[in-house]
Amino acid sequence: MSKTILITGSTDGIGLLTAKTLASNGHRVLLHGRNQTKLDKAAEDVEGETETYAADLSRMDEVHKLAADIRKQHTQLDAVINNAGVLKIGQTQTADGYDVRFMVNTFAPYSLTRALLPILPANARIVNLSSAAQAPVDLDALHGRKQLDDMGAYAQSKLAITIWSREMAKELVDGPVVVAVNPGSLLASKMVKEGFGVEGKDMQIGADILCEAAIGASFEDATGKYFDNDIGAFSQPHAAALDAGHSAKVMQAINAVVAKLS
Ligand SMILES: NC(=O)c1ccc[n+]([C@@H]2O[C@H](COP(=O)([O-])OP(=O)(O)OC[C@H]3O[C@@H](n4cnc5c(N)ncnc54)[C@H](OP(=O)(O)O)[C@@H]3O)[C@@H](O)[C@H]2O)c1
Repeated sequence: MSKTILITGSTDGIGLLTAKTLASNGHRVLLHGRNQTKLDKAAEDVEGETETYAADLSRMDEVHKLAADIRKQHTQLDAVINNAGVLKIGQTQTADGYDVRFMVNTFAPYSLTRALLPILPANARIVNLSSAAQAPVDLDALHGRKQLDDMGAYAQSKLAITIWSREMAKELVDGPVVVAVNPGSLLASKMVKEGFGVEGKDMQIGADILCEAAIGASFEDATGKYFDNDIGAFSQPHAAALDAGHSAKVMQAINAVVAKLS
């Protein structure tokens, strides 16, 4: 059966390839990007039924507008893949004074997902892009009171999205499924080329696991879990994501920042 799937950051990399893979299998894909020219090009390249939505996820007003625009067009989505992410960027602070990595990789998907919950039925999937790079969150950095280096900000933002995935799964006991996925390390996207200066591995490795997480039978009971595609199995995230005290503090901080920005 054809599904309707939103993929954030589907103008490049793993997100674009996931969109192509899903669309070629007859699913309707809601493409999202921050750059209208790249979004138009993605819509041309993805053969199948698509819609496009533009929003800069480093701005909370645009996150809210994105959710509103989608809800105007749809009464139900089958999956949301929170794929958009950043590692190395020129301007590391948002206009509101937060690290762009926390904003795009953690706060924006949290806020977007919460706003879309009314149109996500119990059997829908929320697929959150984590990473093998995870590090305990410095709450001062999360609140924008302290600056981190690129890898530090990235790894902490990825632990934070892993934490909110687990906590949201506990909250949504009757569904939808909320799962965090490391798509595989050093896959050949621009993030990897710019961040690590290496060519990287076939991005289809990442696209295939995101498709499976969004619609496959093996993720039906995956809520609250972490899938590590470096080993091809459900696994444990970084120990800090399993630490109840740390998770509670991170959740409190995420909720405080998101409330402040709303
Ligand atoms: N590649 C890997 O080996 C790897 C490993 C672990 C996890 N991941 C995760 O996988 C996800 C996809 O990354 P990728 O490797 O495919 O990187 P990528 O090629 O750089 O793609 C990132 C996507 O996010 C979009 N994006 C970035 N900042 C945005 C913003 N402010 N607002 C809206 N969209 C924004 C980009 O838009 P533009 O096209 O405009 O740049 C692009 O579509 C990320 O969450 C990343 O952390 C990747």
